[in-house]
Amino acid sequence: MKFSQIIGVGSYVPPRVWTNQDLTALMDTSDEWIQQRTGIKQRHWVDQDSGTCSSDLGLEAAKKAIENAGIEKEQIDMICFATLSPDHVFPGTACFFQAKLGVPGIPALDIRQQCSGFIYALSVADQFIKTGAAKTVLVVGAETHSRALEKNTNGRDIAVLFGDGAGAVVLRAAEGSKDANTSHILSTHLHADGRFAKELWLEEPSMARAGDWMQVKKMTGEQFPKMNGKAVFVNAVRRMTEVLNEAIDANDLKLVDIDLFIVHQANQRINEAVAKAMGIPEEKVFNTIDRFGNTTAATIPIGFDEAVKAGKLKKGMLVASAAFGSGFTWASTIIRW
Ligand code: COA
Repeated sequence: MKFSQIIGVGSYVPPRVWTNQDLTALMDTSDEWIQQRTGIKQRHWVDQDSGTCSSDLGLEAAKKAIENAGIEKEQIDMICFATLSPDHVFPGTACFFQAKLGVPGIPALDIRQQCSGFIYALSVADQFIKTGAAKTVLVVGAETHSRALEKNTNGRDIAVLFGDGAGAVVLRAAEGSKDANTSHILSTHLHADGRFAKELWLEEPSMARAGDWMQVKKMTGEQFPKMNGKAVFVNAVRRMTEVLNEAIDANDLKLVDIDLFIVHQANQRINEAVAKAMGIPEEKVFNTIDRFGNTTAATIPIGFDEAVKAGKLKKGMLVASAAFGSGFTWASTIIRW
């Protein structure tokens, strides 16, 4: 029986930091409002005039993950690239990324499940490895939110939340017997409910109405993301709690068996509510939101990398992750690190 092991992890954020205070130059907001409501202190944004895009950030994270794995890039036989902020509408960002990494010929798949995108991508990679269709899969989550946000008072409810960045892991097939302590992905659980698609979405450009898909002159903000913050908040708490419990039950584990929780970073208060609902002690939760904001598909792998660097995530530990986002989509994974 084949199974997947994470053999390398890496992350990258662009150098320019925007503190909450910096944002007050762009919109009517305050450090106090942002910290109180979300726990965010700062985020990294790409140079707005540089043309830096998600494939660029993903490339930097991937190089680190490949180096950390101690493999040559030529050993990779598949790419799963998760992003909400693609370089272009088509082709997929995985193709641009693949060309930049310099590994032509191997399958390059885009995963478009937004904040749940990384766990969806990890699940796809895990299935390819289990069936023997792939041996070494590079899974990337990368976002360049900052260049598509409405960075003024009109868009402040969303603009203050999101940061740019990327994270990546290398998955490798292992074979044979595994005991409870062997590094492997125990499970992934994926969900979606499209009835909530418009609670957090980007309306334009669109094929879902009459006329040309791109109507620049008519746009009055539809080209920027819109969110029903309260609906997102309530559903995020409910669904992340559910999907973590689903994973723990499916693996015949108990909450106390999990050494570390690295969950999506949309809002510190969402994570506190999940921890409270489940009874997770504070010291078992690893958060990065104060430094990076919400980096969507990049959040979980950035969390893995930061937790390893901080000495919080060590070989042999059992780590549980969950994410929730636009779609709505939600997902979880449990990994023996
Ligand atoms: N700075 C200052 N004031 C702001 C603001 C900002 N950045 N954004 C919104 N406000 C204002 C609102 O305009 C509103 O003003 P009003 O009372 O005069 O109308 C007030 O703050 C309260 O807004 P409200 O939306 O009720 O705040 P909230 O407590 O629900 O918090 C969020 C807003 C966005 C922080 C919260 O809803 C949230 O985190 N939702 C989940 C978001 C999320 O996780 N998204 C990503 C999912 S993957």
